[in-house]
Amino acid sequence: MTLSRVSHAAKYADDTALLKQLVAEADLGQKDRARISKSAATYVRRIRSQDDPSLMEHFLSEYGLSTREGVALMCLAEAMLRVPDAETVDALIEDKIAPSDWGRHLGEASSSLVNASTWALMLTGRVLDDEKPGMAGVLRGAIKRLGEPVIRTAARTAMKQMGAQFVLGETIGKALTRAQSREAEGYTYSYDMLGEAAMTRADADRYARAYADAIEAISDACTHDTVEENPGISIKLSALHPRYEIAQQERVMAELVPVVLRLAKQAKSAGMGLNIDAEEQDRLVLSLKVIKAVLSSPDLAGWDGFGVVVQAYGKRAGMVIDWLYETAVTLDRKIMVRLVKGAYWDTEMKHAQVEGLDGFTLFTSKTATDVSYIANARKLLGYADRIYPQFATHNAHSVAAILEMEDGEAFEFQRLHGMGEQLHDIILKDNDTRCRIYAPVGAHRDLLAYLVRRLLENGANSSFVNQIVDEEVPPAVIAADPFDALTAAGPPAGLVAPARLFGQRDNSKGFDLNDGGTLAQIAAEREVDLPAGCAITVRDATGREVEVTNPATGETIGVAFEADAETARRAIDDAEAWTASAGERAAVLRKAADLYEDNFGILFAALAREAGKTLNDCVGELREAVDFLRFYAGEAERKGQSETGLKAAISPWNFPLAIFTGQIAAALAAGNAVLSKPAEQTPIISTLAVRLMHEAGVPAVALQLVPGRGAAVGTALTSDARITGVVFTGSTATAKRIQRVMAEHLLPGTPLIAETGGLNAMIVDSTALPEQAVRDIIASSFQSAGQRCSALRCLYVQEDIADGLIAMIKGAMDELCVGDPWELRTDVGPVIDAGARAQISDYVETARQAGRILHEVAAPQTGTFIAPVMLKVSGIQELEREVFGPVLHVATYRAEDLDKVIEAVNATGYGLTFGLHTRIDSRVQDVADKLHAG
Ligand code: FAD
Ligand code: 2OP
Repeated sequence: MTLSRVSHAAKYADDTALLKQLVAEADLGQKDRARISKSAATYVRRIRSQDDPSLMEHFLSEYGLSTREGVALMCLAEAMLRVPDAETVDALIEDKIAPSDWGRHLGEASSSLVNASTWALMLTGRVLDDEKPGMAGVLRGAIKRLGEPVIRTAARTAMKQMGAQFVLGETIGKALTRAQSREAEGYTYSYDMLGEAAMTRADADRYARAYADAIEAISDACTHDTVEENPGISIKLSALHPRYEIAQQERVMAELVPVVLRLAKQAKSAGMGLNIDAEEQDRLVLSLKVIKAVLSSPDLAGWDGFGVVVQAYGKRAGMVIDWLYETAVTLDRKIMVRLVKGAYWDTEMKHAQVEGLDGFTLFTSKTATDVSYIANARKLLGYADRIYPQFATHNAHSVAAILEMEDGEAFEFQRLHGMGEQLHDIILKDNDTRCRIYAPVGAHRDLLAYLVRRLLENGANSSFVNQIVDEEVPPAVIAADPFDALTAAGPPAGLVAPARLFGQRDNSKGFDLNDGGTLAQIAAEREVDLPAGCAITVRDATGREVEVTNPATGETIGVAFEADAETARRAIDDAEAWTASAGERAAVLRKAADLYEDNFGILFAALAREAGKTLNDCVGELREAVDFLRFYAGEAERKGQSETGLKAAISPWNFPLAIFTGQIAAALAAGNAVLSKPAEQTPIISTLAVRLMHEAGVPAVALQLVPGRGAAVGTALTSDARITGVVFTGSTATAKRIQRVMAEHLLPGTPLIAETGGLNAMIVDSTALPEQAVRDIIASSFQSAGQRCSALRCLYVQEDIADGLIAMIKGAMDELCVGDPWELRTDVGPVIDAGARAQISDYVETARQAGRILHEVAAPQTGTFIAPVMLKVSGIQELEREVFGPVLHVATYRAEDLDKVIEAVNATGYGLTFGLHTRIDSRVQDVADKLHAG
């Protein structure tokens, strides 16, 4: 089995065929299955009869994500302890506690600890609710009178208690001590140092040190002879590399593999296991490459402690296990494999839908996952000569199935700290089996991602943990046989396939840039010759030829034709409105959308070579264009009637396919004739697009391409009295010029639809999670080399967190790959041309002289690159104009000056976009109400 098989069709395999195979592999007869369900139902009854229920399970059932208090509590728990300033803590508490009905939870939960936090919250809730509940102003007054410190302290204590439900200890030392009582009962541990998805090299190094220190500390507790008996450690690869992704594979192999190998060798000499947690499906193949590279090291020979996690909800689970077994045989190793169901289900579903992927990489029914778990458990037991299976589940049925299937092979169960306690206590007592507890260790600030996963999976009605605490669900239902239910089980209500995300309208097809097969296909289809010149579609065109260059390399890629004003007028002479019925027009536009998708290779090639777009941007751009075509097709049908005007469409180079197509499609859908002037920099892409629209059936007289200079063609089109409307996207200055020309020459009232730029700001307050904020800041400022009218130009950071946040932005900037967008690894391509580069670099040089550069990264010297740069400003008022490139301005503000920031942003005119990172809902509303943007 090669890794390419794990990566290709298997990722989106058809469920039905796969499940049939899994049922066969599980190899359980009716009688076996009845026995398993019976035994599981007995466990359920025994768990319920205990009067010492698990804290966490009760906590989760009391404060599920379906209750307003649950969500409020989670938000508080997540944000509160990291907020440094009292003012914002108070705002957060008020926002989360005041509107909720905490009294409802008092005495409901049988656990005293759950009640303790309820009490603390209710206490503060009462204080806040002192006079007229629900009135924010009155509440603020109440906080003032009754003293914020009391409230803050109560809430902090409650939050700490809540954190302790999920974490064994804040430090490995404390965790090791706290583990002793369970160890005395016969359990062993796998410690997990919290932390994942490192944003910067510094974070990755910090996590690597934490793992190494933990191994060192745990080694003292490794008093047994075998890794099976000793405690171990679990690590996440995403914590150890800031760019752990397929696009950066070379770096990952060169930089991450040595780190993991070092940790593995350390674990080996301590005589303990080291386990690699499973994360998102997009990382699966890359993780297997890392795993194989590490495991191949001769230094690890003779050590049986290398562990890998396999997620049964993934369609490739069985293949991965086969591959791991073959790899262990080939390398002559014994390994450990932890079988889990998978903790990222919600995220993966959403990701597939948004990205328009070919399907889901996971099973869509809980039952299918349960069946897959059992079948793959059977597979693992069959590989016991090389694999030590570790069955991690809190589900009594899954556990009963394993006990039914095992036949004396060595294996262990695993559970999470604070969960599945009663079940595994019973199993441990009744059987001669082992159980290991996975125990998160670490500081509150690293808890969020783990906490969200636990709350999501346990809040789901289908989850075992959720059902066991709900006495209304009978044991026989909880322990029902998934094989029986399989045929009836469909995806949960509301889960729609990616292609159907928009209901009637087809979603645009996405491209999985983490899939080796898709990447190979793109690479092959992109190797085409671009049209050598621009196909002007106007009769007897006159003008001149100019060279088109690749902004990344400076190479000439073709010759464009720039028409003159006379040609533009001739185009208007020939233009004829599209008189086909609305239904026919819609069909043609949909055909055009399909043709765009079919011709992705040449469009990607042109977008990269002519407009300097990275592959990721190419995908986004093509999808947006396709969405426009399908959307306006729907609008044509909906409206039914026709206009018969002549529209001029003047489009920009920064979205040379999407905006170009959107303008044209809107006008065509309504039945107009369109004269389209593409940007001077991107004639080839527009040629390709117009060809496809003509091929789909748009009449040549209804859509004419008139490339040329704005001063010639643009003016000719917008000053001709026959034109009944103008659509324009570009700078405000040009929009104003067009408006003047139109006012002078066109009929009064001729519409101008203009989308222009603005100064876009983002505010990050001290409740924001820095990692989330930085991810968005980097994407918004530097993606497309900052050449989006929606790009972030001015960031405002609350001064209490500014140092840390700015340091993190610097670290994340250092991880950006600036270069030729043809390469998959490139994050930031060139700016569009030499003129743009000269302007931006002059601007940056002036800032440099003024000592305002906070950070700058390297960029290639060839082509028209601008190195992503961060500049210090006192506020947005310092930005005199929109700098259309990878230039981020940063200002700080004091918590009490938030309104002044909003005033300053509003004073610049109208922002196209605005961003806000906060955990305070009332602040979101307040800022949205006051801000002029969007
Ligand atoms: P159950 O309630 O039986 O199953 C719940 C699981 O079913 C959900 O988590 C979900 O994955 C799946 N599911 C729910 N709805 C659907 C649906 N509609 N379609 C398909 N599937 C659905 N997870 C990781 O991803 N990586 C790890 O490295 C990892 N390590 C773990 C270590 C230990 C010791 C344990 C106990 C769990 C670990 N998990 C890990 C979490 C695990 O994946 C499960 O999320 C968790 O254990 C719940 O599964 P269950 O069998 O206990 O509960
Ligand atoms: C998680 O972090 C337990 O690895 C699993 O969700």
